Amino acid sequence: MRKKIVAGNWKMNTSAEQGEELAAAVAERSGETDGVLLIVAPPFTHLTKVADKLKGSAVQLSAQNCASEKSGAYTGEVSAAMIAGTGAKYCILGHSERREYYGETDATLNRKLTLCLAESLTPIFCVGEKLNERESGAHFDVVRTQLSNTLFNLSDEDFAKTIIAYEPVWAIGTGKTASPEQAQEMHAFIRKTLFEKFGDKALETAILYGGSCNPGNARALFSNSDVDGGLIGGASLKVDDFIAIAKSF
Ligand code: 13P
Repeated sequence: MRKKIVAGNWKMNTSAEQGEELAAAVAERSGETDGVLLIVAPPFTHLTKVADKLKGSAVQLSAQNCASEKSGAYTGEVSAAMIAGTGAKYCILGHSERREYYGETDATLNRKLTLCLAESLTPIFCVGEKLNERESGAHFDVVRTQLSNTLFNLSDEDFAKTIIAYEPVWAIGTGKTASPEQAQEMHAFIRKTLFEKFGDKALETAILYGGSCNPGNARALFSNSDVDGGLIGGASLKVDDFIAIAKSF
């Protein structure tokens, strides 16, 4: 049975104090979402404090990114080992905002994947097409290439540890959501593509949907057989919404 997962990507939001409050509230209400793995991904600066607030709860901690180098003279970067040292067990990689605004390439992402896995951080690896790519019908090719240039380089064992997030760029922060049919179609395609490379292991891989997921649309999205949960941006900043989404299976 695949895990049901709802992860909150806080992006560059919340003061330290707000982050602690939000984490404490998620931890306190996590008992309402039986059988669902909850993950929160605050900014780097909040990781240690949030880890403290999550202690004693089942809520897991994630970073939103990590450095592409192991250690050394890389001013401003945060390594996978440093993240693991905070108690985080997950790391979002390849988010479209990182690809778009910080020039992350597949080559960069391969390095980050290796570094995370070496520190026993579970990657939450994002893929997804832009609006023009969907409109021109290139979305399947784009996603296949994103997968084959990165995850296909993993060993079967490392692949089995990885979580995927399908985040159509046109749906992120726009209020536009992929329809449940569009989400299922792409998730099934991702699973098939991964199955061709990794066989049965792909049947165990959690594939999350991300892009304007909210309490109003989560149930329709999560009811699809290949949608195993969500990677939530804006709605993860409100505990009521985040918990409501996690109760939408
Ligand atoms: P929104 O839920 O704000 O659209 O963001 C989705 C996302 O990018 C999660 O990583």
